Amino acid sequence: MKFCVLMGSPRLDGNTAALLSPFLEECGAMGVETQIISLYDREINPCWGCASCQNVADGPGCFQDDGFEEIFRAMAGSDVIILATPIYAFFCTAPMKALLDRAIYAGTKNYGAVKGVKLLEGKRLAAIATCGYPPEKGADLWEEGLRRFCRHGGLEYMGIFCRRDRGGAEPFLNEEREQAVRDFAQAIRMAVRGSEL
Ligand SMILES: Cc1cc2nc3c(=O)[nH]c(=O)nc-3n(C[C@H](O)[C@H](O)[C@H](O)COP(=O)(O)O)c2cc1C
Repeated sequence: MKFCVLMGSPRLDGNTAALLSPFLEECGAMGVETQIISLYDREINPCWGCASCQNVADGPGCFQDDGFEEIFRAMAGSDVIILATPIYAFFCTAPMKALLDRAIYAGTKNYGAVKGVKLLEGKRLAAIATCGYPPEKGADLWEEGLRRFCRHGGLEYMGIFCRRDRGGAEPFLNEEREQAVRDFAQAIRMAVRGSEL
């Protein structure tokens, strides 16, 4: 089983990374293979909306020669896509948004010569997020965006793990959070295994 983990925080020692660390450790302990891609280290240009990808059936088909296609192929080659991001302006960070814009368009062909191809169909997707507001006010729009992204592209949405950053008023990571994010990793693996039996 393979998880493609897309890290959307610029702070590799920040809060999102603090949740990701025990999550990845738990994956390793369960024998789940992980591929971690730090999106701030990649070149992911914005979508130009040219729709040239809509005429290409057998791959993303974007005209831009940057880091997108390699990441898209890693997503398509995994069992579960994990999106890890701090909430910025009530959504994900900019490189992840650029990736999702391009993945939803290049991955779902409906608007050109090709109709009905969904390159990420059947993939599972889960999220890890951190935010300043309580999660129900800070990450609710992000979660709704993910649900609709999955519905549009034919992916299975598996849920979000989100915790609040109280800005130094208390340590971000504690025992409860660490255990809970480990449990989240286990729940994802169990759900995937269950559906394969
Ligand atoms: C530019 C910026 C925008 C942010 N926007 C929001 C927001 O809209 N809603 C929210 O709840 N928190 C917001 N936050 C708070 C972060 O989501 C929070 O501090 C997060 O834990 C940071 O994670 P990191 O340490 O991985 O960068 C914002 C933080 C920054 C730096």
